[in-house]
Amino acid sequence: TMGNPTNVFWHECAVGKAERQKLINQQGCVVWITGLSGSGKSTLACSLDRELHSRGKLSYVLDGDNVRHGLNKNLGFSAEDRTENIRRVGEVATLFADAGLICIASLISPYRKDRDACRAMLTDANFIEAMLLSELFSVNSVCVLLGKEAIHIIYLQVFMNMTLEVCEERDPKGLYKLARAGKIKGFTGIDDPYEPPLNCEINIEQKDGVCPTPSEMAGQVVSCLDENGFLH
Ligand code: PPS
Repeated sequence: TMGNPTNVFWHECAVGKAERQKLINQQGCVVWITGLSGSGKSTLACSLDRELHSRGKLSYVLDGDNVRHGLNKNLGFSAEDRTENIRRVGEVATLFADAGLICIASLISPYRKDRDACRAMLTDANFIEAMLLSELFSVNSVCVLLGKEAIHIIYLQVFMNMTLEVCEERDPKGLYKLARAGKIKGFTGIDDPYEPPLNCEINIEQKDGVCPTPSEMAGQVVSCLDENGFLH
């Protein structure tokens, strides 16, 4: 039942992405926030959402905890379920970015291969768009279009690079305590792995033992969005 659907066809809709983006004067992208429980993902997501809103940019937060109440309420925390959780949120984030929104996805997303699959999903979506556009241009322009500049990065990964000690010390929901007591099995960082990113766009960490404030964290992401042309 998995894999490519049979007898299901892709419909090309009348209004294209470029037209939508022009209408709302913004370019869709995904800010993917990964890190341990208690590392500040949701705090950053909220602060960034607020900051973008105040700048007149339409954003939307997909938070692991919240999505698990609806879209993903049939999923638990086994490796397979986490992978499916990330895949679904990746697909939804891709749709939001296609709609022109700045989608802020905030999930532990502990496995590198799952995060990379989301990155690939978004790169592919843009690659296809570049291919479609390229049909309008000459061979030389096609090369330019398919070059690095043409395939605009629309997936920005933020690593909440906080130590387990810091997260466990905070323990905002008391879950680390339960995990240490063996009352939660397979808790990320305790008895389930977290694979730190090797290729994140934004690294958020302590400076001289001090954690950045929510607005400092949001500021770091806003700068990166700005540098990549998402905030004109
Ligand atoms: S994942 O790994 O990306 O699928 O997880 P995510 O959807 O982000 O959900 C993480 C939140 O679920 C709570 N929780 C657990 N986390 C990790 N491991 C286990 N076993 C677990 N059980 C419940 C926890 O509150 C996480 O919230 P955050 O916001 O990360 O602290």
